[in-house]
Amino acid sequence: MNTLADISDDVATIAPKGAAIPSSGAAAIYGVDRWSDGLICVTPSGDLALKNPSHLTAPPVSLPVILEALERRGIPAPLLLRVQPFLDRSLTRLHEAFAAAIRDIRYKGCYRGVFPIKVNQQPEIVERVVEVGREAHFGLEVGSKPELLIALAQSMSPEALLICNGAKDAGFMRLAMLSQKLGFNTVIVLESLQEFETVHRIAEDLELRPRLGVRIKLTETVTGKWQASSGDRSVFGISALDLLKLTARLEETEMMDCLVLQHTHVGSQVPDIMDVRRAATEACRFYTELSRMGAPLRYLDLGGGLGLDYTGARQADENSINYTVKEYCANLVESVFYAMEEAGLPHPTIVTESGRFIAAQSAIFVFNVLDATLYDTPERPMVTSDDHHLLSDLLAVESYVESDRLQEALNDAIYYRDEIRTLFRHGQIGLHLMARAEQAFLFLLSRFKHVGAQDGFSGLIDQQLSGFVDHYHGNFSLFQSLPDVWAIDQVHPVMPLSRLDEVPTRRAILTDLTCDSDGKIERFVLADGMASALPVHALREGEDYHIGVFFVGAYQETLGDLHNLFGDPNVVTISLDPEGGFDIEHETEGDRISEVMSYVEYDPQTCLTTFRKTVERAVKEGHVDADERRMIMAAYKDGLAGSTYFSADR
Ligand SMILES: Cc1ncc(COP(=O)(O)O)c(C=O)c1O
Repeated sequence: MNTLADISDDVATIAPKGAAIPSSGAAAIYGVDRWSDGLICVTPSGDLALKNPSHLTAPPVSLPVILEALERRGIPAPLLLRVQPFLDRSLTRLHEAFAAAIRDIRYKGCYRGVFPIKVNQQPEIVERVVEVGREAHFGLEVGSKPELLIALAQSMSPEALLICNGAKDAGFMRLAMLSQKLGFNTVIVLESLQEFETVHRIAEDLELRPRLGVRIKLTETVTGKWQASSGDRSVFGISALDLLKLTARLEETEMMDCLVLQHTHVGSQVPDIMDVRRAATEACRFYTELSRMGAPLRYLDLGGGLGLDYTGARQADENSINYTVKEYCANLVESVFYAMEEAGLPHPTIVTESGRFIAAQSAIFVFNVLDATLYDTPERPMVTSDDHHLLSDLLAVESYVESDRLQEALNDAIYYRDEIRTLFRHGQIGLHLMARAEQAFLFLLSRFKHVGAQDGFSGLIDQQLSGFVDHYHGNFSLFQSLPDVWAIDQVHPVMPLSRLDEVPTRRAILTDLTCDSDGKIERFVLADGMASALPVHALREGEDYHIGVFFVGAYQETLGDLHNLFGDPNVVTISLDPEGGFDIEHETEGDRISEVMSYVEYDPQTCLTTFRKTVERAVKEGHVDADERRMIMAAYKDGLAGSTYFSADR
């Protein structure tokens, strides 16, 4: 193992040193055109760049140029870059796709979208969705009291829906009901029979007729990451049996006329369009039955689930989808159209709660690579006739590191290396020999990688060599910035942001700053499928190397945690101008150390006072002089005010 400092750039690598490739070649390696949805491209000078969705002919804006400009303003990586036009575009695309489907299918109802606040609660997202969506009467979905308070502080179109899901106590219900008086189009979605009793009591108390919805548990299951919690094992919603009890209570209490909405949600990121259609069809069956029983339903809320193609594979697997947004909308509208025509019912307003689709593409997480641990070396160790024969045996493997004997050579190298390690453990050889054997193995690895690369790293050999790829150490916390990568094996497109006109000569997994061996990214989206290592460039002394993680605008920000007390990184929202430039719309500084300390209940001031006493004692006892005291106190205070991430030494 060598660190970057020990290794020259011309280490035997997977491709010739410094070889140039057309930037289109790099786009192909990383599959940019497959997953980027036309929003990202590689410039001729090898930078990854953002396209302006409203001005596709405008020059793309280079991400390294944006990063440099931010760094000069004192906003270094790691940072979350929100690209406002990407958010606007997703919202518009969803609307346009529903409008087109409604027109084409001659659907007589309309579409009303709501954005689930839990997908990204940050004001820049929620406020922007409300602003851009106002004309189309885009609404909000809340699942808790804090989210309700956020929604009520927005100036939505009066026609926009405010859907209240989740477990609701009396306080939640009361405020939601009172909001109707202010002109909010609030619908309280009942999740249980018990919730109805609370609504009923408060409605009587306030002498108000609430607008109610009911969340129904479908029996259809969906594939994908949320398969286990779909169907009748879902935690949320009311079963067919309880639905009958609910309708009986609605009748008894003369509140049937309040039931205007039916809600279903089968899970997020539904990979298969067939599941979307099946679930919609079942939802329509409940809708027609409820309507026949006298419920004046007029909204059919089909929840979230519209997926994103994180890998660009265009197939029904966990990180991809086998449909487009247009197909999704057309399938929903058509399913509802046929069901309502058959039942002879008016076409309801179709509601969806798409969060991931709207928010995910709009944010890119960027971090710099601090160092690398390279698992190979170009330097062959010296062997003398006095050395143990196992060392010569190991080095002799070099003579048959060739394409058709690669597997044999790798097996032999591992065998001899392990024999030498055993001898060392048993005290039969010393550290010097052991170290040279490790070097010999790393030297052979560089040969294997070279030949393996020429063979395109295919099959078994790729699997075998995947255990020996580099570790690129990134300035980030996986748990804070990419929690789903850790928690649910979410795959995001990940790639370097520059030097894309150079062959990426190394392969690496990306490790984070936390002291946790789970803190790493080791599944990557490439043009030819998933890979266990990312093609990267050899690091250059004194030159930043930035990695971007794409599609992180949904769920990641608030699910992130303070593992090892790494806090929120800097967050910058930019807009793109038609001339190919960008403007900073909003900036939030990352957490300071004093802030994360207070999140876990330490008072930074008390800590400072206690520390000062410790230093003072050291002065009294003669361990520290006055100058050292000043230096130590300054270091502690700088620490409190500083970033939780690696800062460049200035
Ligand atoms: C009730 C409800 N609505 C909407 C969503 C958002 O789903 P998505 O992000 O897949 O659009 C969720 C998330 O799972 C949800 O639980």
